[in-house]
Amino acid sequence: MTTHKTDASTRIHRLADYTPPDFLVDRVDLDFDFRDDAVVVSATLALRRNPQSAAPDAPLVLDGEALETLSLAIDGIDLPPERYTLGAGTLVIDDALPGAAAAFTLRSVVRIRPDQNTQLSGLYRSADGYFTQCEAQGFRRITWFPDRPDVMARFTVTLHADRERLPVLLANGNPVGSGEETDAFGVSRHWARWEDPFPKPSYLFAVVAAKLDVLRDHFVTASGRRVELAIYVEPGKLDQCDHAMAALKQSMRWDEERFGLECDLDHYMIVAVGDFNMGAMENKGLNIFNTKYVLARADLATDLDYEGIDRVVAHEYFHNWTGNRVTCRDWFQLSLKEGLTVFRDQEFGADVHQPAVSRIREVRILRATQYPEDAGPMRHPVRPSEYQEINNFYTATVYQKGAEVVRMLQTLLGREGFRAGMDLYFARHDGQAVTCEDFVAAMADANGADLKQFMRWYERAGTPRLKACGEYDAQARRYVLTLTQSMPDDAAAEPLCIPVVVGLLGPDGADLPLRLSGEEKHEAPTTRTLLLKESSQQFVFADIDAPPVASLLRGFSAPVHLDFAQPDVELAQRMAHDSDPFNRWEAGQQLATRLLLGAAARSASEPTVADEWPDSFAVAAARILDSALAPGGDPAFAAEALALPSEATLAEEMAVVDPDALFTARMGLRAFLGQRLRERLETLYEKLAPSGPYRPLPADAGRRALRSLCLDLITAADPDAGCALAARQFAAADNMSDQYAALALLAHHDRPEAAAALAEFHARWQKEALAIDKWLLVQATSRRPDTLSVVRRLTKHRDFDLRNPNKVYSLLRGFGANHVRFHAADGTGYRFMAEQTLALDAINPQVAARLARAFDRWRRFDAGRQAHARQALERLAGNASLSRDVSEIVGRALG
Ligand code: TRP
Ligand code: ZN
Repeated sequence: MTTHKTDASTRIHRLADYTPPDFLVDRVDLDFDFRDDAVVVSATLALRRNPQSAAPDAPLVLDGEALETLSLAIDGIDLPPERYTLGAGTLVIDDALPGAAAAFTLRSVVRIRPDQNTQLSGLYRSADGYFTQCEAQGFRRITWFPDRPDVMARFTVTLHADRERLPVLLANGNPVGSGEETDAFGVSRHWARWEDPFPKPSYLFAVVAAKLDVLRDHFVTASGRRVELAIYVEPGKLDQCDHAMAALKQSMRWDEERFGLECDLDHYMIVAVGDFNMGAMENKGLNIFNTKYVLARADLATDLDYEGIDRVVAHEYFHNWTGNRVTCRDWFQLSLKEGLTVFRDQEFGADVHQPAVSRIREVRILRATQYPEDAGPMRHPVRPSEYQEINNFYTATVYQKGAEVVRMLQTLLGREGFRAGMDLYFARHDGQAVTCEDFVAAMADANGADLKQFMRWYERAGTPRLKACGEYDAQARRYVLTLTQSMPDDAAAEPLCIPVVVGLLGPDGADLPLRLSGEEKHEAPTTRTLLLKESSQQFVFADIDAPPVASLLRGFSAPVHLDFAQPDVELAQRMAHDSDPFNRWEAGQQLATRLLLGAAARSASEPTVADEWPDSFAVAAARILDSALAPGGDPAFAAEALALPSEATLAEEMAVVDPDALFTARMGLRAFLGQRLRERLETLYEKLAPSGPYRPLPADAGRRALRSLCLDLITAADPDAGCALAARQFAAADNMSDQYAALALLAHHDRPEAAAALAEFHARWQKEALAIDKWLLVQATSRRPDTLSVVRRLTKHRDFDLRNPNKVYSLLRGFGANHVRFHAADGTGYRFMAEQTLALDAINPQVAARLARAFDRWRRFDAGRQAHARQALERLAGNASLSRDVSEIVGRALG
C-alpha cells in the first residue's frame, strides 16, 4: 500500500482559522453490504445550509479517503461526473445544489476494502470480523461526509452479511429490526438495523460485523431505567470478561453518585478487538476496546492489567457525558473531553483503589512522559493552536496535563464548587459541540469566580518553574514563604494562577496550625491552598514557635517543577512524618534524585570512583519497610516509596544526559539498599508470600507489589540468590502478577534460569496474544547489554507482527523506552528504531508516528549520540513516501 503525499496532507491546521460548517447534516441513513473482498456503503445524508455559515453560497465540500465512488445523486437525481470534483480527499459539489434555504439529500454509494486497511482507521478487518475506528478522522474512510465534530447528525444503520461468517451485526443505538434475506445472487444472508436516537459527530460512529461471544448483564439507573449491558469478545474468551463487566457497573454507579450523571442509553455495548491503535474508543453506546483493556483472568492478567481495565472501562463510560453528550467544537479542543475524562477516571480510581498510591502513579507518569514532551520538539499547549496531523496530538499533554488542569479547577473551587460548575456545563451545553472556554466559563459562572487568568493553563506550553524560599523569623514568630513563578525560555510570560497546597511540620513532625498573618485567630487548618497569581508573592504564617519544615505542593497541587532548596535532613524528616502521603513519597523521591544525580555527575567525570551512598537513606528506607506491615501501614505505598525515579525522569534534570552514568547510579543505589536491608527484605519477602487464591483486590495487589520490590532489591545486591528466588516464584506462581514479576526480573539476566523461564512462558502461553505481548516486552526492556540483538531477532519471530499495534508497542516502543539500551553510544538503537519506523509507516502511520517519538529528546545527549540520532532522523526525513504523521514528528525533531 502506498501513502500519497499531497498539498493537503502537509497543511498546517490552525485554531485561529476556525469557521462554522457551511452545511449541517440532520440525518444519515447508512447501509453496509459486507462481501468477501469489499464492503459497499450506501449513504443518504439529509443536508441543509448552516444559517451560521460565514459563506452562504459555499459549495458543498465532503471529506473522503480511500473510497471508490460508485454513484452520487442529489434529491434522487444522478449526479454526472461533470457536476462534481474529486480532489485530494474531498468531493466538491457546486452548481448542482438546490436554493439557499432548501434542504436536500445526497446519496452516495462507495466501495471500501477493509482487508487492505492496515492503518486500522475507518472500517478494517481483524481476526474475528470487521470493526471501525473513526476518531479522529476515520469516518471519511467509510463514506463521503463533512467529517468534523461540530456536525452532529442522527444515524440509522443497516448491516447485511453472511450469517455463518458474521453472525453479530452491531451499530450505535438501539436495534430496530433484523431478519433473513436472499441477495441478488440468491445467497441467503441476514441483516440488522440500528437507530441512534442521539445526534452525534461522525467520530463517534461505529459498526461491528463479526463472529463473537457475548456476556450479557444489565444495570438499573438511579432513576430506575434499565440498561442492557453486553461485552463481545473472541469466541472462547467469555471466562475473561467478568472483571470488565464489574468495572462497567461500578463506573455507572460512581458517575451517578459523584456527578449525578445517569446512563442515557437502552443498550451499552463493549466490543474487544485484538488489532487496535489505542486503548479504547467511546463510540456512542458501542465502545470498541483493545483486548488488553477487557480480557482478564488470574493466570493471564497482572494486577496492573486489572487496574488498567477498571480505569479504561470507566474512562470510556465517562465519555458518554464528557465527550459524547457534550462534544468538541473542533480537534483543538480535544482536551475538553480527554483532560476532563482522564480527571474523572483518576477520581474514580482514587475512590475504588487507594487514593495516595493512585496519585503517586499519576504523577510518576506525568513526570516520565509529559514533562519531557513539554520540554521537547513536540511541546504544545493543553489546547494546541496548530497541528499537521491530529492523531499526533493524542498526547500526554492533552490527556495527563489536561487532567491536571481540571484538577486545579477542583482545588481552586472546592469539590462542591467544581460539581456546581459541571452541573452548569451540562445544563448549558448538553447536545452541543463546544470549546475549552465554554467549560471554564461554566466553572467560573457557577462559582462567581474570575478564571480569565486560569485560561492561560490551556494556552501555554512548557512546565512552569515554581521557586520557593522560606525564612523563619524567631523574634516575630513568623515564617515567610516566598513563591516565584517563571517559564523556562520565556522571561516575559504573564503569570499563571497556581494553587499551592502547603503544610508546615513542627519539630515533632506534626502539622502546625496555619494562620496567615492578619487573619482571625480561630481559623487555622493544617493544610491550606495558597493562590499564586503574581510572578512573585510572599505568604506570612504567624504564631510559629520554631523553624518549621515546609511541605509544599501537597497532593501535587499543580503540574510545575518545584525548586526548593530543602536540606537533606528536612527531606528525611518529611519522608518519615509528612501527613500528606503524596509528599511523604515525594520527599523520598527528591532525596533519591539528589543522590542519583550526584553519583551520575561523579561517575561521568571520574568513571572509576565507586559510589558511596549515605547511610541515612538506607535508614529511611528501612523505616518504610518496617512500617509497611505495621498497623496503619500500606504495602502499596511502601513499594512506591522505595521505587527509585526512572531514568527518563532523572534525565530531564541533567544538562547533558549521560544514560550510562544514570544507569550505573541507579543500579548502584539499588544494590546498596539491597545489601543494607538484606535481612529485612528476605523476611518481608517470606511474610508477603501469597496466603490464599489470587484476588485482584488493591490490598492484595499492594502486598504483591511490595514483595516484587523486595525481590528486585535482593537481586540487585545478590544476583545469584535473587534469581534463584525469582525462578522459584516463577515456577510456583498460580497467577500472572507473581509470574510476570519473576519473569521480568529474570529477563534482565543472561543466565540459564532466565532462558528457561522465557522458554517456558512462551510454550505455555503461545496461543494467548496478550501474554505473548508481555513476553516481548520483558525482553525489549531488559537491561542486558545484548538487548538490541535480541529485539532484532524477535522482529523476525513468528509471534511478532508489525501489523498488530500491541506487538509493536511491546517490542519496539518497549525498546524505545529502554533508556540505556536505546540510547547506546554507538547509535545502533537509533538506527534500528528509524528502520522499524520506516517499515511500519507503510503499514500504519499512526502507530509509526508514536514510535518516532522515541527520538524526542535527542538534542539533550552528547555530541556523539546527537550525530547518530540526527543521521537516523535525516534518513527518515529523506524518505519520499513518508506519511504526514511521521513527517510531522520528524520535522519537529529536526526543526
Ligand atoms: N478517544 C479515545 C479515548 O481516549 C482515544 C482513541 C481511541 C483514539 N482510538 C483512537 C485516538 C484512535 C486517536 C486515534 O478514550
Ligand atoms: Zn478518552
